[in-house]
Amino acid sequence: MYAIPGATRAAQVEGPSQGPAQSPSPIPSTMDTPRTVAAVLADSQVEAVLDELDRDLVGLKPVKQRIRDIAALLVIDKLRAGLGLQAQNPSLHMCFSGNPGTGKTTVALRMAQILHRLGYVRKGHVVSVTRDDLVGQYIGHTAPKTKEVLKKAMGGVLFIDEAYYLYRPENERDYGQEAIEILLQVMENHRDDLVVILAGYQDRMNTFFQSNPGMSSRIAHHLEFPDYDSPELLHIAQAMLQQQGYRFSDQAEQAFERYLQLRLQQPHFANARSVRNALDRARLRQASRLFADRHREWQAADLCTIEATDILGSRLFAAPAPVHPTGVHHAAPSPASPDL
Ligand SMILES: Nc1ncnc2c1ncn2[C@@H]1O[C@H](COP(=O)(O)OP(=O)(O)OP(=O)(O)O)[C@@H](O)[C@H]1O
Ligand SMILES: [Mg+2]
Repeated sequence: MYAIPGATRAAQVEGPSQGPAQSPSPIPSTMDTPRTVAAVLADSQVEAVLDELDRDLVGLKPVKQRIRDIAALLVIDKLRAGLGLQAQNPSLHMCFSGNPGTGKTTVALRMAQILHRLGYVRKGHVVSVTRDDLVGQYIGHTAPKTKEVLKKAMGGVLFIDEAYYLYRPENERDYGQEAIEILLQVMENHRDDLVVILAGYQDRMNTFFQSNPGMSSRIAHHLEFPDYDSPELLHIAQAMLQQQGYRFSDQAEQAFERYLQLRLQQPHFANARSVRNALDRARLRQASRLFADRHREWQAADLCTIEATDILGSRLFAAPAPVHPTGVHHAAPSPASPDL
């Protein structure tokens, strides 16, 4: 078994507790052992996280259902343990597959909270890494890097984004394989205090699992994050604006629906992340619009309302520029720009 030394370098650490419900300590396992589902839920306050998940995240029905199922399993395990029945810690390593901006990181944070509240992991934080955090450039560098990250993640969730980059079959001497082997051991031996979530595009994850059956067999839950449809994206936009203390005017809402139709046809569309970016720019345009009118006394409603013009200012709505005498087009949206 690999020993995990102390960690010193920075990996992205998030959590453990987000949202209004404060994280209580994991439920006590002795003395007043809860005897009913209601008692476990009350002690752990896990239902607050499940409700927040339902409320805050638009769509994602199958994902939410699977998380409820996992929570139910852990609650029943608590009851079993309370009665002295066999309750082995289930393996909870997961794979979140889906396109960019479909909510994988957000759900991982909530998952960590749930696992913590039900006493499955001690701390409930999320350490988010990619290949570069785990794999070294030179011989002998990978094992210490991977172990440092694992040490940091113990007691919480290790979220490995674009996990398939760990495996590079084209490079015979790739150090990624070393990281994978260490991960596999720790996933097996420390599964009662570390949950690993692998995330990335579905097709690449499938190829990765085909080439790494050891990894595949350790992943108990595969959660698929579908792309959002237009009504869901609009709903997400409204929820994001509300959180920021803004709202669309009726015309702005219609303009944003049109914006989404155009944006969905552009390359590099990143679901809710693109919506967030679009709203950031709409707020910039709104601010410039209000800023330009120096002497007007703006009311709260003015300051909080995104108008249609703030949306229509996007380059997506720009008419194709006239052809320049040199034959070069100007000002048309560049296919390389991720958000417009
Ligand atoms: N269903 C949803 N409802 C509301 N907001 C959402 C939803 N899904 C994602 N978001 C928001 O969209 C943004 C991007 O989400 P997140 O980072 O979780 O996606 P991701 O799948 O991890 O993307 P990437 O693959 O690009 O890392 C976040 O600000 C998140 O709060
Ligand atoms: Mg992410």
